[in-house]
Amino acid sequence: MLAAAERAGVGAGRRFGEVILETKGLTRVFGSGSHRLVAVDHVDFQIRSGEIVALIGESGSGKTTMGRMLLGLLAPTEGQVLFRGKDLEEYRKRREMREYWRSVQAVFQDPFASFNSFYKVSRTLMNAFKLLPKRPPEDERKEKIYRAVDAVGLNPAEVLDKHPHELSGGQRQRLMIARALLVEPEVLIADEPTSMVDASSRASVLNILLDLRERLNLTIIFITHDIGMAYYTSDRLLIMQHGRIVEQGPSEEIIRNPRHEYTKRLLSDVPTLHQEWELSS
Ligand SMILES: Nc1ncnc2c1ncn2[C@@H]1O[C@H](COP(=O)(O)OP(=O)(O)OP(=O)(O)O)[C@@H](O)[C@H]1O
Ligand SMILES: [Mg+2]
Repeated sequence: MLAAAERAGVGAGRRFGEVILETKGLTRVFGSGSHRLVAVDHVDFQIRSGEIVALIGESGSGKTTMGRMLLGLLAPTEGQVLFRGKDLEEYRKRREMREYWRSVQAVFQDPFASFNSFYKVSRTLMNAFKLLPKRPPEDERKEKIYRAVDAVGLNPAEVLDKHPHELSGGQRQRLMIARALLVEPEVLIADEPTSMVDASSRASVLNILLDLRERLNLTIIFITHDIGMAYYTSDRLLIMQHGRIVEQGPSEEIIRNPRHEYTKRLLSDVPTLHQEWELSS
C-alpha cells in the first residue's frame, strides 16, 4: 500500500492559497414536467489555489454538468460560480469569457468533440494562443507547442501533422492536456482525464498533471468515478450523488473513515484500491 506521504499529489502540511473557485447554491435542471431532472442540486464548495480536488460519483450523478457550469459552458438554473469572488455571470455579460478561459482550462471526457476535425493538430494547438492577451512570435509558439506535446509523452514529429481522426483516443486526450498547458491556466478542470488511456498510460497522464501542480501551482479539479484514482491524486474529495455533495473532506480521512453510505459503497466497489495504485504508480 502507498503510504500517505507517497501519494503523488498529496503533500502533508501543504499550504493552499486563497479561495479561487467557489459555487453557491449551484443548480442545473434539465427538462420540465414529468421529464424534469435536477442534475446538480444546490451545491456549495470552495476550492483554494494550488489544491487538487476530486469530484467523485457514479455515472449520471451530475459531475460533467457541474464541470460544464464551472467552465461557463452551461448556464446554471440557479446559484452561482465565482472565480476569485467574481460571478461568472459578470464575465458572460461583459463578454469576458475569453479572459476567464485564460485562467480556467479543461480536459474533457470526450476529447474528439474538442478538436476541429478539419484542422491538423498543429493548427488546433496554435489556436490556443488566441486566448492570450499577447501572442508570442511564431518561432516561440512553435517551440512551446513542441515542448508541450513532448511534456505529455507524445512525439511531436509524429502527431503534429495529423488530423484528429488519425489519432487514438489516448493521444487526443494527451493533446488536450498539451493545449491546456499552452494557455498556462491557473485552474484545470479534468473530466475523466484518463478515460481514453490504457491502464499503463493512466499513471503517466496523472503524473503529468500532478507535475504541473508542482511547477505552476496549478489548481486541479479531477472529475472521476474512480475513487482509487481520486485518492491517489487528490488532497480533498467531494462525493456526489444525485446532484448533491453528500460528503467532502481530506482524501485520507474519507478513505479511512467514510461516513456516508454512498461513499462506503463506492469504496466497497474497489477492494483492490491500494493494490491497484501501488502497481501503477
Ligand atoms: N443536455 C442535457 N439534457 C438533458 N439531460 C441531461 C443533459 N446533460 C446531462 N443530462 C442528465 O443529467 C444527469 C447528469 O449527467 P452528467 O453527464 O452530469 O453525469 P456524470 O456524473 O458526468 O456521468 P458520467 O460518469 O456517466 O460521465 C444525467 O441523468 C443526464 O442524463
Ligand atoms: Mg461525465
